[in-house]
Amino acid sequence: MKFDFDLTIDRSRTASLKWDHIPAIFGVEDALPMWVADMDFAAPPAVVRAMHNRVEHGVFGYTLQTDSYREAISNWMNVRHNWSIQPQWIQFCPGVVPALSLIVESFTEPDDQVIIQTPVYPPFYSVVKDHGRELVLNPLQVNDQGDYEMDFEDLERSLSGGRVKMIILCSPHNPVGRVWTREELSRLAALCEQYDVLVVSDEIHADLIYQAGSHTPFAALSEDAMNRSFICTAPSKTFNIAGLNTANIIIPNDKLRRRFEKALQKYALGSITPMGAAATEAAYREGGEWLDGLLTYLRGNMEYIKDYLEQHIPEVKVTLPEATYLLFIDFRGLGMAQEDLNRFLVQKAKIGMNNGITFGKNAEGFMRMNVACTRATAQEAMSRLHTAVQQWRKEG
Ligand SMILES: Cc1ncc(COP(=O)(O)O)c(C=O)c1O
Repeated sequence: MKFDFDLTIDRSRTASLKWDHIPAIFGVEDALPMWVADMDFAAPPAVVRAMHNRVEHGVFGYTLQTDSYREAISNWMNVRHNWSIQPQWIQFCPGVVPALSLIVESFTEPDDQVIIQTPVYPPFYSVVKDHGRELVLNPLQVNDQGDYEMDFEDLERSLSGGRVKMIILCSPHNPVGRVWTREELSRLAALCEQYDVLVVSDEIHADLIYQAGSHTPFAALSEDAMNRSFICTAPSKTFNIAGLNTANIIIPNDKLRRRFEKALQKYALGSITPMGAAATEAAYREGGEWLDGLLTYLRGNMEYIKDYLEQHIPEVKVTLPEATYLLFIDFRGLGMAQEDLNRFLVQKAKIGMNNGITFGKNAEGFMRMNVACTRATAQEAMSRLHTAVQQWRKEG
């Protein structure tokens, strides 16, 4: 393989949230970090090179988003997602979560309702509640094949109350790993049009899909969808540069975009860093081949884990996601209450994962495992889990 994803890079003592915060989060020193969503791989060589070149210059003043920067993003959207955008639609923001927060604050009023589809990435709750807006849950449902689906009847019931102003969509969905189909998104878009609801589509995981071309940007659905949506994109998950605080919010509607720009100015958030600019442009221009290699490697990790569980730990089940490097693992077969499950996984298995409950009450008995790690780390995790479960079986 041209890129060596098996290479172990020691991330300890690099002020890494994922690695160095383990004792603070999990209360033990030696849990394997498989939680917060960044990867244990180096960024693509082209990105590292671009940053080296930028460092060599030695001057790091205030930085613009150049025409070339915007062109790199629009080309990527075109090639990877068959979505033609105009460069001026792109608004920089130092993160997707700050963008979600700004959009909720600027485009809804205190009494308005905002819908999220649970279980979902925890900040979706806080960006609504922290601004004093009313959170309305539209829980995902599990079909007979065990796949998560949107509950359109429940959604329409909430919309018909007349107080919903916005829906925050997670597309693809973290943590359940769905890539919403064009049909599902079109049905959602039709309801949003009927009830005049703004759509904030968090598409940060859109490049991490296992079937090329399967993701549909919400704004690409129709002219109406385009005019009522904010598409939140970022190179951060895709190329493992989350620490560079770079996101691009694509807002085709002029009025919405101007208001978003004002909100950014209010908090002085519109300025990109020189490193973020260099890395983002290089990633989108030259990172495609690396990303394809990464996706193959990640799929290998996931298949390895699924096979291992099926063979050795059948109490624990996983469905392979259509996107993301996150496995949403069903531990209900162990029959433990959530608190006991957490304690077991941290103290006995020594693996640090995200507690399902933090994504929603309907995720009890689940844990989210980040498998953007070397195969050796995935193997170590399975071995630790197996040993702990064998001991638990003996004691049970
Ligand atoms: C759905 C989703 N949105 C946003 C983020 C974080 O975005 P940012 O770091 O740009 O604020 C994550 C990180 O895991 C995520 O999963």
